[in-house]
Amino acid sequence: MSATIISGKDIAAQIREELKKEVAEMKEKGVVPGLVTILVGKNPASISYVTGKQKTAHEIGFNSIQDDQPDDLAEADLLKLVEKYNKDTKIHGILVQLPLPKHIDEKKVLNAIDPDKDVDGFHPVNVGRLMIGGNEAKFLPCTPAGIQELIVRAGFETAGAEVVVVGRSNIVGKPIANIMLQKGKGANATVTIVHTGTKNLEEHCKRADILIVAAGVPGLVKPEWIKPGACVIDVGVNRVGEKKSEKTGKMVAILRGDVDFDAAKEIAGAITPVPGGVGPMTITMLMKNTVKSAKIHAGMV
Ligand code: GUN
Repeated sequence: MSATIISGKDIAAQIREELKKEVAEMKEKGVVPGLVTILVGKNPASISYVTGKQKTAHEIGFNSIQDDQPDDLAEADLLKLVEKYNKDTKIHGILVQLPLPKHIDEKKVLNAIDPDKDVDGFHPVNVGRLMIGGNEAKFLPCTPAGIQELIVRAGFETAGAEVVVVGRSNIVGKPIANIMLQKGKGANATVTIVHTGTKNLEEHCKRADILIVAAGVPGLVKPEWIKPGACVIDVGVNRVGEKKSEKTGKMVAILRGDVDFDAAKEIAGAITPVPGGVGPMTITMLMKNTVKSAKIHAGMV
């Protein structure tokens, strides 16, 4: 039997509608979530990501600011800019788009963001809060938070489930493993992280009730590695070529996930497609974090 396709696109749209209503209610009480996205330089992929974030923020009803800075902005000036937004009471979320130009120390900049406005969840304080878990966790990083939402909304039981995470990046692998092992709803799983140093990758994957793949290797996970009925979350977005868009006639990237989707969907119980799976959830969770931040700053939670 063919797997249920978990549409991140549809689930993200549903969450955005929920957020729109929440923001409308907040506005009645005089609170407008504020988000600033800072872009240094003109990296085309970054422009596209930031434009998407701004568009969504406007649609949901945020006070949303796009702060474009030149490629040669001095590191000290970027730190001053971050400090300005740290102090701005109308701003509840600060996002510095990565990557930054080479002359700027990314770590220094991320560490300068007020952890209570760090809606990306990248600041070491928020990484620590996530690790401690429970009420401590404030802003979960957006992609892992989106993955958890997909698993829960697809109706998979996580408590006691065998979760195998392929990949140990700071942005996806490590945080999603931490999220899934916490006590509480949508988690409480038995978690294994596998990586390039793991022996018997295949054997670990075969045990997974929930298999989360974030390796950045197209087609790494073979269909025979999937336990029948498992939930498969493919985080890989690999550019494997280009094609002409039927809609616009422009050249667009051909994207492929880390899982051999066509074959895997005949074995898995549910699976995310690439594109349209995890991707649309990332921006949505950024919006959710910003709403949460505005509520915390306004003493509403
Ligand atoms: N560049 C690519 N993805 C991201 C993201 O989620 N946050 C930031 N700040 N930069 C990125």
